[in-house]
Amino acid sequence: MRVSELLTFALASAALASPVEERDAKVTPSKRPNHPIAPHHPGKAFPASPARKKTCTVKANGNGKDDSNNILSAIKSCNNGGHVVFPKDKNYTIGTALDLTFLKHIDLDIQGTIKFTNDTDYWQKNAFYQTFQNATTFFQLGGEDVNVYGGGTLDGNGQAWYDLYAKDIYILRPILFGAIGLKGGTIEDLKFRYSPQWYTFVANSTDVVFSNIDIFGGSTSENPAKNTDGWDTYRSSNIVIQNSHIDNGDDCVSFKPNSTDIVVQNLVCNGSHGISVGSLGQYVGEVDIVKNIYVANISMSNASDGARIKVWPGAASALSGDLQGGGGSGEVANVTYDGMTISNVDYAIEITQCYGQKNITLCNQFPSNLTISDITIKNFKGTTSDKYDPLIGYLQCSSPTVCKNINISNIDVKSPSGTDLYSCGSISGIESQVHCTTNGTKGGNS
Ligand SMILES: *[C@@H]1O[C@H](CO)[C@@H](O)[C@H](O)[C@H]1NC(C)=O
Ligand SMILES: *[C@@H]1O[C@H](CO)[C@@H](O)[C@H](O)[C@H]1NC(C)=O
Ligand SMILES: *[C@@H]1O[C@H](CO)[C@@H](O)[C@H](O)[C@H]1NC(C)=O
Ligand SMILES: *[C@@H]1O[C@H](CO)[C@@H](O)[C@H](O)[C@H]1NC(C)=O
Ligand SMILES: *[C@@H]1O[C@H](CO)[C@@H](O)[C@H](O)[C@H]1NC(C)=O
Ligand SMILES: *[C@@H]1O[C@H](CO)[C@@H](O)[C@H](O)[C@H]1NC(C)=O
Ligand SMILES: *[C@@H]1O[C@H](CO)[C@@H](O)[C@H](O)[C@H]1NC(C)=O
Ligand SMILES: *[C@@H]1O[C@H](CO)[C@@H](O)[C@H](O)[C@H]1NC(C)=O
Ligand SMILES: *[C@@H]1O[C@H](CO)[C@@H](O)[C@H](O)[C@H]1NC(C)=O
Ligand SMILES: *[C@@H]1O[C@H](CO)[C@@H](O)[C@H](O)[C@H]1NC(C)=O
Ligand SMILES: *[C@@H]1O[C@H](CO)[C@@H](O)[C@H](O)[C@H]1NC(C)=O
Ligand SMILES: *[C@@H]1O[C@H](CO)[C@@H](O)[C@H](O)[C@H]1NC(C)=O
Repeated sequence: MRVSELLTFALASAALASPVEERDAKVTPSKRPNHPIAPHHPGKAFPASPARKKTCTVKANGNGKDDSNNILSAIKSCNNGGHVVFPKDKNYTIGTALDLTFLKHIDLDIQGTIKFTNDTDYWQKNAFYQTFQNATTFFQLGGEDVNVYGGGTLDGNGQAWYDLYAKDIYILRPILFGAIGLKGGTIEDLKFRYSPQWYTFVANSTDVVFSNIDIFGGSTSENPAKNTDGWDTYRSSNIVIQNSHIDNGDDCVSFKPNSTDIVVQNLVCNGSHGISVGSLGQYVGEVDIVKNIYVANISMSNASDGARIKVWPGAASALSGDLQGGGGSGEVANVTYDGMTISNVDYAIEITQCYGQKNITLCNQFPSNLTISDITIKNFKGTTSDKYDPLIGYLQCSSPTVCKNINISNIDVKSPSGTDLYSCGSISGIESQVHCTTNGTKGGNS
């Protein structure tokens, strides 16, 4: 044992022996992982997180009985400087919506498994409504200086939700992990399983790092697990998502309105809809900003897209019952995709400013109020799927006046038939960067 480990062990043992906590010889608190932010960094420093001085262990009722009260009371007694342990051999059940936005200087050490109940009636009434896109979350984790780690699992028990959604697309399916109003924190070394909807929603948050998250899910019935994005960021800044494995059925990562200063790096994504900006500009009167984004070193397999930017045109249009809009304003600026290896991906690169509008003539008549500028896409390699062969990409803006400085270079991507064509429209100078054809195959897309 090194001195630092001895010290941690001694501190942890002293804490465990204190009368406030449950004594349990088998409980070993994890060391806080703190994976370095590398190789890229969003630029702003992340606040320090002081060591914790107390340990609380969460009791498990077992047999699927709701552990929400056990969790809440351990968190309350260890808030402001403590370390909460969910031991390795324990299964926890959460059947009550937990508002954890009061957290401060606390570590949640999830070594065991936490499973959410599949009581779809209860959760539809009680999950936290986040307004944006009718998103709801099982719990909301917010406050200041919170670290979550431990190697354990959060399981959304999604099957009941996938089956219910197939009957009614208007049901509200909870998001597995809601970081809501979190200022400073790390979420590391965790497994996320079977989320009913998006896996992670990061909203109203700053200075948060996700590292070594393993996402896996899917449906066992004929009803697919829809909208299972890996991460969605919203009204958030200085965020890192890195070193993770994602096996899902929608965006691997998606930057929603007001996502700024974000680095996404070293991800392995399988089965997704790519790393997406948007969709943005869906609502008239709203201003959506996505700025200073760096996406690097991504492996993208079995996906609909690699790099994707989705912006609605100026005119309102309808895509489907629960998805419609256009006419909002704002900007997508300074977004870089640097390094992506693709395999069986429909489009390596897709930029559309005609989202939701199949009629490109109509899209061009009502240029988007949301500008796209300073986009760099470079160092891609691999092979697309045969879905749009001979095309490997789709680059369609609504007008060159609202879509500027798009730079695409060093793209070593071929279709299965060996071509490297893009469908291009309304982007100045694009023909000198990639092989364009005007044969469009996609305007209104999902
Ligand atoms: C926890 O759940 C897993 C999977 O259902 C099961 O194999 C294991 O025995 C459970 N452990 C306890 C302590 O109940
Ligand atoms: C974020 O903060 C704003 C302003 O305080 C609030 O209206 C909103 O409900 C919060 N949550 C989300 C998810 O936007
Ligand atoms: C939100 O829910 C309302 C009521 O069901 C529905 O009209 C609206 O289309 C939904 N919005 C989104 C973005 O799903
Ligand atoms: C809900 O979960 C329980 C216990 O895990 C299981 O027995 C039941 O089949 C599930 N219900 C649905 C609708 O999936
Ligand atoms: C790129 O990501 C992979 C994981 O997909 C990782 O093994 C590798 O070290 C990363 N490369 C760099 C230069 O960080
Ligand atoms: C990757 O995704 C594909 C298609 O979605 C799926 O069939 C396959 O099982 C996944 N592979 C792995 C290793 O998870
Ligand atoms: C996004 O930022 C813009 C510019 O600051 C602001 O006008 C808009 O209201 C913000 N949108 C949301 C959803 O917070
Ligand atoms: C563009 O974004 C990068 C981070 O991706 C940042 O380092 C750089 O300063 C930004 N450029 C400008 C002009 O803001
Ligand atoms: C892509 O999907 C195929 C099956 O459809 C699977 O064999 C392969 O492992 C997947 N690729 C990755 C990287 O998971
Ligand atoms: C597309 O929009 C244009 C301009 O409004 C219109 O003339 C044309 O008929 C539309 N095409 C289709 C297929 O609807
Ligand atoms: C949106 O763009 C149209 C032109 O396409 C313009 O007439 C309108 O004033 C713009 N609206 C806003 C709110 O910027
Ligand atoms: C474009 O469309 C024309 C006419 O339909 C067709 O002959 C040509 O092969 C297409 N080119 C590509 C690259 O798809």
